Amino acid sequence: MRAQGARKGLPAIVFLGRNGLLYAIQVARVQSPAQAGIPDGPFFWPRPMSCNLLARGRDNVSRTPFLAGNWKMYKTGPEAVAFIEAFKPLVGNLSGREAALGVPATAIFQAAQAAAGTGILIGAQNIWYEKEGAYTGEISAAMAKAAGAGFVIIGHSERRQYYGETDEWVNKKLKAAAAEGLVPVVCVGESLAERESGSTFKVLESQLRGALDGITPEIAKPLVIAYEPVWAIGTGKTATAAQAQEAHAFLRGVLAKALGTQSADAIRILYGGSVKPDNAKALLSEADIDGALVGGAALKPDSFAQIVNFDK
Ligand code: 13P
Repeated sequence: MRAQGARKGLPAIVFLGRNGLLYAIQVARVQSPAQAGIPDGPFFWPRPMSCNLLARGRDNVSRTPFLAGNWKMYKTGPEAVAFIEAFKPLVGNLSGREAALGVPATAIFQAAQAAAGTGILIGAQNIWYEKEGAYTGEISAAMAKAAGAGFVIIGHSERRQYYGETDEWVNKKLKAAAAEGLVPVVCVGESLAERESGSTFKVLESQLRGALDGITPEIAKPLVIAYEPVWAIGTGKTATAAQAQEAHAFLRGVLAKALGTQSADAIRILYGGSVKPDNAKALLSEADIDGALVGGAALKPDSFAQIVNFDK
């Protein structure tokens, strides 16, 4: 068993709580945030210096790493097929991980055919929440599923920014996806201005709570969350592993308050924002980072395969 958040090489006091959970406290004396691996800045510092980790672990928690590409508005159907043909041998049988590709709606069918039998999950990047109707240009959860989608990205910051996607829509889309048996991958994340003004946690909590309104632990079973700080998307500026871990641990706490600890411990939280082959391993080594949502680096079979094989 590995305690979530535990840092290698530090002694730990471990005790069993009355609730059956195992708790570990690690204490480190540090002179600076950098020395403790804590990024400096208004959001992260000052923090309690002498206690840099309070980790909680459970024996029965297993969150299979989920490595998903988000192709955004790139690739036609035939280009998707060519990608998948080149990608398949690079990732083999995908043991111990799940690989997924969020492709343009026009490529779902061909991509799903090309990926059949490989374990690679094909998904949509958006749906509308109604079952059908006069919604020009939109597709429903059922349409995405019938074309071959197994998951759908919901509430990506580009949709929030350019198409006015609200927390209410995200919530309705989550419900529509779950009702259709699609895995909802719900994105949350703060902008640079929000981070700099110290409101990151407030923004994350309100986006996640908005998405989860009326969602029961049962509906939330297939749910995946993606933490994508807007300032890290397409900029080459990745959040540090410690920055991402802190946000992920916070999001898991919000999930626990909204859905209970059992659901919170089971739901995978992906990190997205300039994930590349050379930083994937460090990010995925963090206790609460259960996978990645990858934009640019998922457009080439070789670089996405290196991310999927992050631990090999
Ligand atoms: P990049 O990996 O290109 O920064 O994009 C991240 C993203 O938006 C994934 O949804």
